[in-house]
Amino acid sequence: MTLFSAATVRRLLANTSSSSNFLHYARRHLSSTTPVSNFDKLGCIGLGLMGHGIAQTAAMVAAKDNVHSSIIAFESDQKFLDSGRDRIQKSVDKLVSKEKLTSSQADALMGKITFTTDRDALNDTDLIVEAIIENMDLKKQLYSDLGQQCKPETVFASNTSSLSITQMAEASGRPEKFVGIHFFNPVQIMKLVEVIKTEYTDPTVFDNTVKWVDQIGKVAVKCGDTPGFIVNRLLVPNLIQAMLMLERGDATTHDIDISMQLGAGNPMGPLHLADYVGLDTCLFIMQGWVNDFPEERAFVVLRC
Ligand SMILES: NC(=O)c1ccc[n+]([C@@H]2O[C@H](COP(=O)([O-])OP(=O)(O)OC[C@H]3O[C@@H](n4cnc5c(N)ncnc54)[C@H](O)[C@@H]3O)[C@@H](O)[C@H]2O)c1
Repeated sequence: MTLFSAATVRRLLANTSSSSNFLHYARRHLSSTTPVSNFDKLGCIGLGLMGHGIAQTAAMVAAKDNVHSSIIAFESDQKFLDSGRDRIQKSVDKLVSKEKLTSSQADALMGKITFTTDRDALNDTDLIVEAIIENMDLKKQLYSDLGQQCKPETVFASNTSSLSITQMAEASGRPEKFVGIHFFNPVQIMKLVEVIKTEYTDPTVFDNTVKWVDQIGKVAVKCGDTPGFIVNRLLVPNLIQAMLMLERGDATTHDIDISMQLGAGNPMGPLHLADYVGLDTCLFIMQGWVNDFPEERAFVVLRC
């Protein structure tokens, strides 16, 4: 059993304002005994927009609080491995230039990550977080291969935004050791992580995953394997409604966005946010839901 380290508590408090719920969260943990997860060696698959942020975030706490002995960052193609490494290096250099990290801390962070195109390097990891492109066939094939090559204890976690965790768990051949860990973009900054369980997930594996999210300085929320989990299930239909409102000519882009900012307290209007997420991504997510859940009323909007 381990208490939150003083460094972790300082980080939690430094990242909050006195009015936020996050303060309550940090204070709650000051007085509780929170066991740490047993995930020592971490694997990260895919070093794109999300994956490089996940590897960097884990490496940061690995270097600072020794949460992980090492992080194996895997891409199947050398070109994408190099660009993933460059992305992390640039982000770390920026922190150094802003004096949020010293050069030696930056070196320690980078030193925690082993960059590789050799998938066998993942075989003895304790937790693998996958962030490859949003394609079910590719993900199923990857999990089927990993299920055969990794040690039996390795837990698999997908960062998918919209695909079924249950289907990937079944493809892995070890569904009880499979969870969803849904980070938000940009990973280095966004605090929330949705942790998703299926009907197969071993409760101990799930608890360990929630603890790991805590350890890397994020706030975990728990959710079942429902399309879009919590945030996207509520958010994406709302973005589509804003687009339909604009399409009907009910209001202008400016007035829709400013309404949700000043009237609903959102930091960004829905049309601005839809651009940030990517219109193609919004469409892809909604089309997938309409196909998979034709009876779900919240998704019918796209068939209008
Ligand atoms: N973009 C977002 O805002 C966001 C937010 C939350 C979750 N996600 C999810 O995270 C995942 C990754 O999204 P992204 O935006 O980072 O995508 P991305 O295209 O930026 O990165 C995907 C990376 O995976 C690599 N890759 C593809 N197939 C691979 C394989 N078989 N083995 C190893 N590497 C492989 C690619 O080379 C690429 O670098 C998706 O499942 C997505 O739904 C995305």
